[in-house]
Amino acid sequence: MTASRPVVLIDCDPGIDDCLALMYLAGLHHAGEIELVGVTTTAGNVEADQTAANARWILDLCSLSQVPVAPGLPQPLKVELTTTPETHGPTGLGYATAPAPATEPLHRDWRQVWEEALAAHDDLQLIVTGPVTNLAAFEETHSKAAARFGAITIMGGAVNYRGNTTPTAEWNFWVDPHAAAQHFRSTAPQVPTTLCSLEVTEQFLLTPQRLGEVMELLGQHPAAEFLPDVLRFYFEFHQEQGEGYQAQIHDLLTCMIALGRINYKAAETTVAVEADSPLLRGTSVADLRNHWGRAHNARLVTAADIEAAHQEFARGFTLLASH
Ligand code: BDR
Ligand code: CA
Repeated sequence: MTASRPVVLIDCDPGIDDCLALMYLAGLHHAGEIELVGVTTTAGNVEADQTAANARWILDLCSLSQVPVAPGLPQPLKVELTTTPETHGPTGLGYATAPAPATEPLHRDWRQVWEEALAAHDDLQLIVTGPVTNLAAFEETHSKAAARFGAITIMGGAVNYRGNTTPTAEWNFWVDPHAAAQHFRSTAPQVPTTLCSLEVTEQFLLTPQRLGEVMELLGQHPAAEFLPDVLRFYFEFHQEQGEGYQAQIHDLLTCMIALGRINYKAAETTVAVEADSPLLRGTSVADLRNHWGRAHNARLVTAADIEAAHQEFARGFTLLASH
């Protein structure tokens, strides 16, 4: 596989912004710009079986029934699962609901999906847009295979920044703080992790006007019927949070950064995540001045070209609509 056509595995928890990320990846896949070889899901925004049913539905709507979807671990590594229906709706897709999966019973083993993808492709790119549960577990049980990822990109953390779940923690890292902590302890520096933290991802805002433009591009695409219901819930949630009638699209921006489709800045640094302190659960810190003297384990994204991301969003959905 050449570098110009990255092979991608995504581990996600759809989830409204995860849904947009999957649709974007589907557009690039149909255009031959990437090869999407699998989707596995985490428990996070809703339970892992539900996130898998949602992912299956989105891929089916995007004519990607051949791409395997498998639910991952049902619980975080050490804490009880907390979900967030108030953010993403009762089943994770706002006011829309996925039907029972039609194309696949979702009984595939997620670890097998990862192993097969790693065995078949050098330079496999892993994108994680939910809690880090599956990745941390895989790194523990399949450490040799995990070291073969070509790149790992994670949406998570409010690194040296204010949180969206507690004063200092971002949702994905807060849901499974031990997984995030373990990943950043375990990987240095075998597989570089690009970390897209809240400070950058919350800048990518979808407004009703931008959504209208995207809907026009989608035209008669089967997903177009549901997308306004999905996004309306997310707009309302952000408004209740005092953010205005718009939505932060963290996971889609993360995919664009993972694939190098927009310009961004990153700092090589050492990231650590606090897991056990009740007050600081899920808090992430980057040692930007090298106080710890530890090996770098992350490329922390510090800025991204947000206007280019909007253009790339439109381009990806145009590709999706034309296939
Ligand atoms: C992250 O949390 C989830 O609710 C979103 O899907 C995103 O991955 C943002 O904090
Ligand atoms: Ca997510």
